[in-house]
Amino acid sequence: MSETKEVILSGIRPTGRLHMGNYFGAIRDFIRLQEEGYRCYYFIADYHALTTISEREDFLRQSLDMVRTYVACGLDPERSTIYRQSDLPCTAELALLLGMVTNIGHLERGTTYKDKLAKLPSGPDGPEGNPLSYGLLGYPVLMAADILIVRADRVPVGDDQRQHVEMTIDIAQKFNHRFGEVLKVPQPVPRGAVRLPGLDGAAKMGKSESNDLGLLDDPKTVLAKIKGVQTTTDPPPLETDSNLPEMVIPQMPPTIGVLYYLLHLLGPEEVYLDFLGKYRRQEKFYGTLKKTLAEYVSQFNEPIIEHFNAPENNDEFARAFLADNAKKVTPVALETVEACREAIGIGHSLYRA
Ligand code: TRP
Repeated sequence: MSETKEVILSGIRPTGRLHMGNYFGAIRDFIRLQEEGYRCYYFIADYHALTTISEREDFLRQSLDMVRTYVACGLDPERSTIYRQSDLPCTAELALLLGMVTNIGHLERGTTYKDKLAKLPSGPDGPEGNPLSYGLLGYPVLMAADILIVRADRVPVGDDQRQHVEMTIDIAQKFNHRFGEVLKVPQPVPRGAVRLPGLDGAAKMGKSESNDLGLLDDPKTVLAKIKGVQTTTDPPPLETDSNLPEMVIPQMPPTIGVLYYLLHLLGPEEVYLDFLGKYRRQEKFYGTLKKTLAEYVSQFNEPIIEHFNAPENNDEFARAFLADNAKKVTPVALETVEACREAIGIGHSLYRA
């Protein structure tokens, strides 16, 4: 691996077990970048999860499960640096420094924050004032710290995180403008990451929406989830001769579309085409479609489940490698924070003479 290879960074919040949306929207890309020899940092965003997790046990359990799932999917702790965000506490210091050059107005335009604000039952002007946390408002600042601390060139994320990376670019430029060219400004994220639809037909598969297929779901669970997908007896005819998923799926009712989407993704082309023919001919096909799809999903999950449960991939292993990787990333991160302190003119790190 050459020294000049670009630095890649991405994170996933440890909110429960990973699902197919995580795999096709992120992990698959993480693995490809690792195989291409980039310097990859993939971290478990447990500080970020504080906006949603409240159970103490969940933090450790979910972080360890996530590490084991990453490894089961093919990420290699020797080649990629996989660490836990909270093991790198100087991230919080960088976030504090970045917060000083970030406008509140900019953060208030963040979509995550705006959406939560809009959903408040009594509005932001209730008797106690705006009840949302400072941490939630500052989520993009912490995310900027994650990215800038390892001097990432590129940040592979789904479309829902684009705005956060754009905010990072903005914050880094502001900081550099004020204190000198200290921070590496990452490249913008190209559009069009895969976004898997949910089993309920929603645009996005997500753990919190309970419409997901977990990477660790066993065949029985997979079948039950897929059987539970709503289907209509008379789906509307397709008004195209094309068989391309991007042409036909939008013409289907969303919950049927998702079955075809997954079949195309996971099964052989001819099986997809065969079921498309059945749709066009209005044959009865839901039962077999669901069973067939469930089998492909389970085939996909099988090696992941096996690796997840392998004795050499147990909790102890996950803890040990988190510790090792925290040691690998710490000097890289401290160097950035140190450069920022120096540029601002504040104290030096205790870690360095
Ligand atoms: N906000 C991201 C998400 O919810 C997770 C995340 C935190 C992240 N920090 C990051 C992703 C830095 C990329 C880079 O999915």
